[in-house]
Amino acid sequence: MDSTLAAALEEVIDSLKNSDSFVRLVLSGRRRNMQTPVERIDVKPALIKGEVKYQVMQSDGRAMSTKNYSPSEFLALNLLDSGFANILLEQRDGSISVRITKKGEALIHRTHDTFEADLSHDRSKARLLDAGDPFLIEVGISDNSGKVKVGKNDKYLQVEEFLRLLAPSLTSAISAGHIAKPTPEKPLSIVDLGCGHAYLTFAAHQYLIKQGIPVKVIGIDVRESARLRNNQIAEKLGISESITFLAEEISQTSLKSADVAIALHACDTATDDAITWAVNSDVKLALIAPCCHHDIQAQMVDAPEPWQIVTRNGIMKERLGDLITDALRMQVMKLMGYRVEAIEFIGGEHTPRNLMIRAVKTGAIADSIEKSRYEAMISLWKVKPALASLLNR
Ligand SMILES: C[S@@+](CC[C@H](N)C(=O)[O-])C[C@H]1O[C@@H](n2cnc3c(N)ncnc32)[C@H](O)[C@@H]1O
Repeated sequence: MDSTLAAALEEVIDSLKNSDSFVRLVLSGRRRNMQTPVERIDVKPALIKGEVKYQVMQSDGRAMSTKNYSPSEFLALNLLDSGFANILLEQRDGSISVRITKKGEALIHRTHDTFEADLSHDRSKARLLDAGDPFLIEVGISDNSGKVKVGKNDKYLQVEEFLRLLAPSLTSAISAGHIAKPTPEKPLSIVDLGCGHAYLTFAAHQYLIKQGIPVKVIGIDVRESARLRNNQIAEKLGISESITFLAEEISQTSLKSADVAIALHACDTATDDAITWAVNSDVKLALIAPCCHHDIQAQMVDAPEPWQIVTRNGIMKERLGDLITDALRMQVMKLMGYRVEAIEFIGGEHTPRNLMIRAVKTGAIADSIEKSRYEAMISLWKVKPALASLLNR
């Protein structure tokens, strides 16, 4: 192990032994040629029956799980050396971040900022957005007394789940240097392509502002009625300086750039328009939850054998078509320098459209086998994805 890295890990371990000053630890990213046990680990102190425990929250990309350990039990898990590329430790009087490069070297950054520990442990009930947030009332999810309306609980949960995915994705992208740290002069720019009634657009804005992250949000929808309604709400909430809505086709939008693009359930190939815009505009983080998939479905007329045992059943053909569409979209993005993952957006009991593509622009050049895989897949199924045509692939 690189000696600077060994010394940095030793320093983090020593600091973690002092539970009084511990505030937060985040492990994320993957070291070259190594597998991490889960996608990301967040650790914070929690006061449980008068004792400080280390609360470990793990995300496998589908769901979060939480477990509490004593500091020594936690250190015995040896998670610092389990394949993560980024280690961020915050203590009351400063932070240390260690980024392990592809060559296995450590890039170390220290600050002398002050951090405050949150010792609460009942995170499961904690909501990221209060149901009484004025925006939830204005968009019609909560009533005037700040309670979620009957019949709007699924929408509220979807908003919460979305924020739970957005927040760590953003933190990782910023700490890995893919997105510049937002400042009031250069706020984080987010575009929501096909924003509709803008539940998620407003949610992202309100949540990030609440976290002290300067942000500029733009919602785009082809419907003029959506633009009018959403801009009126923004004005009523007094936030129209930092959130605004345009009535435009995604493929024709006048917007030129953004750090983050989201497109949630934009219809059929509007998802491909959104990905195309994101790729062409060099978006660094894209969160895309596709909706109805007609493009590849319509082309799957001549299923290769032995796949006909699946495709002769209408419902199975449809689901397979959805999967092939999204897998090909992801592969195209991979070939264009994005690190891509498919994650569950929200449990299938809330909406059947529960797959989200998370793509981070790393600029990595994909192995040649990835191109061969893509070509073999489209040739096997005799299909040409709309996204490939839009991006001239
Ligand atoms: C199913 S709604 C989803 C709205 C929102 N993203 C959400 O998840 O709540 C899809 C929205 O995309 C918009 N849309 C569809 N195709 C579009 C396109 N090509 N350009 C802009 N907006 C589009 C529709 O007008 C509609 O409001």
